[in-house]
Amino acid sequence: MSGVLTVRGGVPLKGRVQVRGAKNLVPKAMVAALLGNEPSVLRNVPEIKDVEVVTSLLQLHGVTVVKDPQTGDLTMDPANAKTASSAEINTHAGDSRIPILLCGPLIHSIGHAFIPDLGGCKIGDRPIDYHLDVLRKFGAVVDKEAGGIRISAPGGLKGTKIHLPYPSVGATEQVLLSATRADGITELTGAATEPEIVDLIAVLQKMGAIISVQTDRTIRIEGVRELGGYVHTALPDRNEAASWACAALVTRGDIYVQGACQRDMMTFVNTFRKIGGGMDINDDGIRFYHPGGDLKPLVLETDVHPGFMTDWQQPLVVALTQAGGVSIVHETVYENRFGFTDALVRMGAGIQLHRECLGSVPCRFGQRNFTHSAVISGPTPLKGTHIDVPDLRGGFSHMIAALAAEGTSTVTGIDVISRGYERFTSKLDGLGADFDIAKHKVMV
Ligand code: EPZ
Repeated sequence: MSGVLTVRGGVPLKGRVQVRGAKNLVPKAMVAALLGNEPSVLRNVPEIKDVEVVTSLLQLHGVTVVKDPQTGDLTMDPANAKTASSAEINTHAGDSRIPILLCGPLIHSIGHAFIPDLGGCKIGDRPIDYHLDVLRKFGAVVDKEAGGIRISAPGGLKGTKIHLPYPSVGATEQVLLSATRADGITELTGAATEPEIVDLIAVLQKMGAIISVQTDRTIRIEGVRELGGYVHTALPDRNEAASWACAALVTRGDIYVQGACQRDMMTFVNTFRKIGGGMDINDDGIRFYHPGGDLKPLVLETDVHPGFMTDWQQPLVVALTQAGGVSIVHETVYENRFGFTDALVRMGAGIQLHRECLGSVPCRFGQRNFTHSAVISGPTPLKGTHIDVPDLRGGFSHMIAALAAEGTSTVTGIDVISRGYERFTSKLDGLGADFDIAKHKVMV
C-alpha cells in the first residue's frame, strides 16, 4: 500500500513531539548484537522501517529478536546464528544500506556473508569501496556476484592499520564491527566521530570491546576473542529533532521536541539561532519556535561532525526560502543532495543550483559537474502543488513546504518517510496539520 497525502497549507504546527532512538544508531547496535555470545537488550527503539529490515535480516540469520509489546525494547539472542540463503537476504534487504555492516559480525559468527546490492536514499552514488577495502585489509576475501557480494575469511579477521580517505560514517562502523573480535590491534585513522559512532562504541565497550578514541580522528581497537551481550538505551535522533525544528520555522509554529539533546546538536542550535529561530533548551528537550517577523539569510556549509550535519540541510533549505535575503548552502558530504529543490521551485521558491563550491573551502565535488551548491533568495510565498517524495529527508522537507504553502498539495510516496520518522503522520496530526491520507493499492 502507498499513501497519498492531501495537505492544506497555512496552518502553523504547534504542540509536542517525542523523538526516540536514532535511526542512524539503532540498526547498527542491532547488528552489533551478532558479535556477542549472550543476548543483548536495546532500549528506546523507534518504530521505523530500517529497524524492521534489520530485524528480519537478523532473524534470517538465526538470531532471535523479541520486541517488548509495552516498551518496544528489543532482546536479541545470537546463540543460533546461521547461514541464510542469498535469495532470502535479497528479499529482506529492502532499500536499506545496513546489510553491508553485517559482514564483520557474520564472518566472526559463521565465517562468511552474502551482502545484497544496497539501497538507501538517492542522494549521490553511495559507493561502498571504502567498506570493501576495509574488509580486504582485515584479510577477508571479497567476491562480486550477481545481486551482491560474497565475503569469507578462512583464517578469520586480523587486526590492521586502516586510513579512511574521507571520514565515512559507514566505513568507520565497518571497522568497529570487524575489529572488535579480530586477532590483534587495529588502528583506524581518518575516522568519523559522529554522536552515533560514539554511541556504537559505547555499545561495543559494554560487550567487552577495548576501543579508544583520540582527538585526531584515530580510533584504536584491541581485538578480543569473545564479547558478551549489552543493555543499552539508544541516543535520541538528532536528525528527527532538527527536522521538527525546521518545521516550526517553515510553518511559523512552535514545537517542543521531547528528547532533543543539545549536546548532539550544538552546530544546529547555533545555526537555528543565527537564522532567527526561537529556542528554549532544557534537559528533557528543546522548544523550537518562530518568533515572528522575517527569518535571516545565512551562508552554510555541511560537513562531518562536529560540522553542520548533511541530514539537517534539506529541511533547513525550506526555512531559508522564507528568510529575507540571499542564502548560500554548500553541500560537501553528498554530491547530489539538492534534487529535492525542484519541487520547492515549482512551489515558488527562489533556488538556483551551482557546480562551484560556494563555501569557505573547495570540497571533493568542485568542478566535477555536481550541482552541490545552492543559492536561495527569499522570502518567497510557496504555493501548493503535486509532490512525489524523492528520499527520506527530502520527503520530510517537501511535507513541511506543503504545510506552509498557500493552497492544497498532494504528496505521493510518503512511505519512504517512515524509514526514518516514527509515526510521522500521527505526529503531524498531533501538531494540528490539516491533511488527509488516501490509501490506495499500488498498481502491480
Ligand atoms: C550515514 O550514511 C547516514 N546513514 C546518513 O544518513 C548520513 O547522511 C551519513 O552517514 C553522513 O553523516 C546511516 O547511518 C544509515 P558516509 P553513510 O559513509 O554511512 C562517501 C539519513 O538521511 N563514501 O559517511 O552511507 C559517500 O558517497 C542518511 O539518515 C564513499 O565514497 O555515509 C558520501 O559522499 C542519509 N565510499 C560520503 O562518503 C564508501 O565506501 C559520506 O558517506 C562510503 C562512503
